[in-house]
Amino acid sequence: MKSSLPKVLVTRRIPEAGLALIREKCDLEIYEEDRVIPRQLLLEKIPPVQGLLCLLSEKIDEELLHKAPHLKVVSNFAVGYDNIDIAAATRRGVVVTNTPGVLTEATADMAWALLLAAARRLGEGDHIMRHGQFEGWGPMFLLGQDIKGKTLGILGAGRIGSAVVERSAGWEMPILYYDHNRNDVLEAKFSARKVTLEKLASSADFISIHLPASPDTHHLIDEKILKQMKKTAVLINTARGAIIDEKALVQALREKWIAAAGLDVFEKEPQLAEGLDQLENVVLAPHLGSATIQARDGMATLAATNLLAVLAGKRPAHVVNPDVLIR
Ligand code: GLV
Repeated sequence: MKSSLPKVLVTRRIPEAGLALIREKCDLEIYEEDRVIPRQLLLEKIPPVQGLLCLLSEKIDEELLHKAPHLKVVSNFAVGYDNIDIAAATRRGVVVTNTPGVLTEATADMAWALLLAAARRLGEGDHIMRHGQFEGWGPMFLLGQDIKGKTLGILGAGRIGSAVVERSAGWEMPILYYDHNRNDVLEAKFSARKVTLEKLASSADFISIHLPASPDTHHLIDEKILKQMKKTAVLINTARGAIIDEKALVQALREKWIAAAGLDVFEKEPQLAEGLDQLENVVLAPHLGSATIQARDGMATLAATNLLAVLAGKRPAHVVNPDVLIR
């Protein structure tokens, strides 16, 4: 018998906390293989779907939306939504939602994990230990950078950027930030200074990226900006890969324009720019920013709640294209 419940497709298994909520109210289908759903299969499955809960690995574009006449909501299991053509969804009256907040602390922790690992050359140390190359303590062996009192530069002073600054308190770091908007809280609490990108690049010792990916931020960190950075600078990216020109970064790291980088995101994920994995002065993580049990439970619950709200004709907690709701 055909179910009268709304048809929902979840493109990969997410924590049960979210699935249970959807199962109660919807006819739920999950793509059960633990890998990215093949594009062709997604296109085949989408026509009857009313609610799509998808991941940042799925491209939600005109072609897909065109095949989805019943689609009311795309609930992205991520805070970033550069995988979705928002204008196309809006044109078709499809609500797009995301999962901010619940992953802020986990992602800020990952930025600091990379910052500390890059500053103290933990990746290189781990490699040496695993390859039987440790010959004992040495006074000049694997010297890294102190952090205390150094300047922290934040690109994007939103939720995650602010949480990264909050964590810097113990290191007593002067704070610079680059953002379109002023952040009064950071200015009042940390005497943070809003500066130009060029000023931040040339003055900060540690630079951490927390901007969304967009045409405006594409390759914001390019050869020119990398050349303006200090030779001792450490660059951290837990936002989106395309904000950095990865090819230029490989050259910068190889030729020591900057000291090190810590990257959790990549331009052509899961591929790396040629030569990146050959460099010693970069710590590489496989997009783990929100990968804690608690954050992923929170994301699953929020993504499900957003999706169910739209299917019930209500306003979801986090809507990316609110224009759709006021039409
Ligand atoms: C992860 O990268 C996210 O955008 O949530």
